[in-house]
Amino acid sequence: NKKAFIFDLDGVIVDTAKYHFLAWQKIANELDIDFTLEHNELLKGVSRVRSLDIILELGKVTASQEDKNKWLIQKNEEYLTYLVDMDQSELLPGVLTLLQYLKEKNQPIALGSASKNARPILEKTGIRHYFDAVVDGNDVTNAKPDPEVFLMAAKLLNTKPEDSIVFEDSVAGVQAANIGNMTSIGIGEASTLHEAKYIFTDFTAIDTAFIEELIKG
Ligand code: G6P
Ligand code: MG
Repeated sequence: NKKAFIFDLDGVIVDTAKYHFLAWQKIANELDIDFTLEHNELLKGVSRVRSLDIILELGKVTASQEDKNKWLIQKNEEYLTYLVDMDQSELLPGVLTLLQYLKEKNQPIALGSASKNARPILEKTGIRHYFDAVVDGNDVTNAKPDPEVFLMAAKLLNTKPEDSIVFEDSVAGVQAANIGNMTSIGIGEASTLHEAKYIFTDFTAIDTAFIEELIKG
């Protein structure tokens, strides 16, 4: 049996969620907007443009398009400084083992990320070759929870949505997988990701028996 295994990037494959947070927090600080880790959950899986809008809404700040564009560039420049030294050591626990296992089992693998920085991150961490398809923020028009990014990935892998399995750390991403009629697997806190069909704290908590069930299922 062939399934499609679709991975989100930030917070699932690499621990970049903390870098996105730090970069946004810097912008928020400059604008005198209170921006906490709890607020940050709203931004996970959400596009850069939408993320800024959410932060401005939190602070009840209205801004010109010109200012917004400036902050979007600033945020990304700040974020990119964290990626300069990135290497394979920044892969989250258990990710590499699972990618290798799925490859051995000839299971199609795709990336489904909202990030426009996804491809360089795959290169820097040395895992690009595991992915049969990469769909990222440069390819889609609708942000998660719209399922567009995952549907495109499944299509590229020639797999039906119902035979697709999505690994996600964000509420918006879990919702996107569910709306797309895919099997959603939350990676993170059960309290945040309760809408997912299955939830694990990280990939080391997933055993091969479970993966075999998914492949068979
Ligand atoms: C992912 C992250 C978000 C980020 C978005 C856009 O979904 O979870 O925090 O804002 O990608 O990323 P980008 O690298 O294009 O700014
Ligand atoms: Mg994510």
